[in-house]
Amino acid sequence: MKPYKIGLVGARRGGGILGTMAAHPRCEIAALCDINPAAVAALGEHFKLPDRQLHTDYESFLASGIDVVVVATPIEFHAQQTVAALEAGKHVLCEQTAAYTVEDCQRIIDAAKRTGKTYMMGENYSFFHCVLEWKKLIDAGRLGKIYHAEGEYLHEIVDLLIDPETGERKWRYPRAPIWYCGHSLGPLLFLMQDRVVRATGVTPGRNMHPEHDSVGFLDMETGLFLTEKGAVIKILASQTVKRYRKNGGYLTWYSLYGTRGFVENGRDPLYEGLEWLEDTDTPQGGARYVPTPFADPNAPEEARHGGHGTGEYYMVRHFIDALDQGFRPAFNAVQAAEVTVPGLIAHESAMQGGVWLDVPQFGW
Ligand SMILES: NC(=O)c1ccc[n+]([C@@H]2O[C@H](COP(=O)([O-])OP(=O)(O)OC[C@H]3O[C@@H](n4cnc5c(N)ncnc54)[C@H](O)[C@@H]3O)[C@@H](O)[C@H]2O)c1
Repeated sequence: MKPYKIGLVGARRGGGILGTMAAHPRCEIAALCDINPAAVAALGEHFKLPDRQLHTDYESFLASGIDVVVVATPIEFHAQQTVAALEAGKHVLCEQTAAYTVEDCQRIIDAAKRTGKTYMMGENYSFFHCVLEWKKLIDAGRLGKIYHAEGEYLHEIVDLLIDPETGERKWRYPRAPIWYCGHSLGPLLFLMQDRVVRATGVTPGRNMHPEHDSVGFLDMETGLFLTEKGAVIKILASQTVKRYRKNGGYLTWYSLYGTRGFVENGRDPLYEGLEWLEDTDTPQGGARYVPTPFADPNAPEEARHGGHGTGEYYMVRHFIDALDQGFRPAFNAVQAAEVTVPGLIAHESAMQGGVWLDVPQFGW
C-alpha cells in the first residue's frame, strides 16, 4: 500500500503533529501551506520539501496531490478549510476545537457525509496514556454506570491573547475560555460514550484583567452539563488563571464517578491519581494511589516526540488506522460537534446569567 501523502495548513503547532506523522510508516509528508511565507519555508526546510510543495495559497495546496489535510490554523478557519479539503477529496485531521459556531459544526458534518471522506478532530488529550487505561476499565464495565464527571483545563496563556510587548491582539483574544472545551469535555465524553443535552455556564467576570473588555479575559468559566444517559459533568476553563505548576504552567485534571468505582488523575503531581474499584478494593481501604502518566511508559522513545505525553502519537495512529481499516474514528464530525458545541452553549448561558439551555443535537 502506498503511504498517505500528508499536507499541513498552519505551520506552527501543526509542526508537532506533522513530526509524529513523519515517523509513521503509512505517512509521507508532502506539502505545506501557511499565509506566512517564513513559517512555511522554515517547516519546509525541516521536512526537506521542494519549493513547489510550499504554498501560501490554500487552493494550490489542495491541488498539490495530497491525500490528507492536517488543519492547524486558528479556529476561525477550521470549518472553511475543512469543508474545502473534504470537497476536494481529502481526508482531514483538524485541530480542536472543530469550529466557533453551531452552523459551522453542522457544515463539517454535512461535508463529511456528502463526500464520504474521513474527518477527525485532533483531540489529543483523549489519547493520554491514563485516559486510554481508564477507557479499558470503563469499557469492561468496571466503573459501572458513570453518573458524575469533572474536567479542568486551566492554562494561563495571556501572552497568546495579546502580545505583551506590542499590545497586538492575537486570534485567541476574543475566544471565551469555555469555547476551548476540547481538552476537558473531550476526554470525558470519549470515555463515557455519552452526549450533552442541556448546559449552563457561569463566570466570576474579569477580576484579573479588568482592563480588557473581551470574553477571552474572563477569569474562569464553569460549565455544568446534563447528558443523554443522565450523568452530570462539570468543567472549568481559564486562559488567565494564576496557578503555576512546575510542568509547563497548566492543569489538566479529570475525575469520573461510577456506581462501581471512580478514577481521577492527580492535581499535583498530575501523574499520581486515585482509583477505587468495587471488584478489587474494599470500601474500608478506600481509594488507592495509582500512577496516571500522560505518556505510555512502554511506548517507543519516538512516541513522546509529538508532545503531550504520548497523546499525539496514539491520536495519529488512531486516525491512520481509521483510514486503513475504514472505520469512523473517535472525534468524527458528529462527535467533534458534540464536544465543541456544549462549550459554545455554556458560554451563551454564562452571558445570560446562567440559564439552562438546550444543546443542539447532531446526527449522521
Ligand atoms: N491540541 C493541542 O494541544 C493544541 C495546542 C496548541 C494549539 N492547538 C490548536 O492548533 C491550532 C493552531 O494554533 P497555534 O498555536 O499554532 O496558532 P498560531 O497563531 O501560533 O499559528 C497559526 C499558524 O497558522 C497560520 N495561519 C493563520 N491563518 C491562516 C490561514 N487562513 N491559512 C493558512 N495559514 C494560516 C499562521 O501564519 C501561523 O503560522 C489552533 O486550532 C489551536 O486551537 C492545539
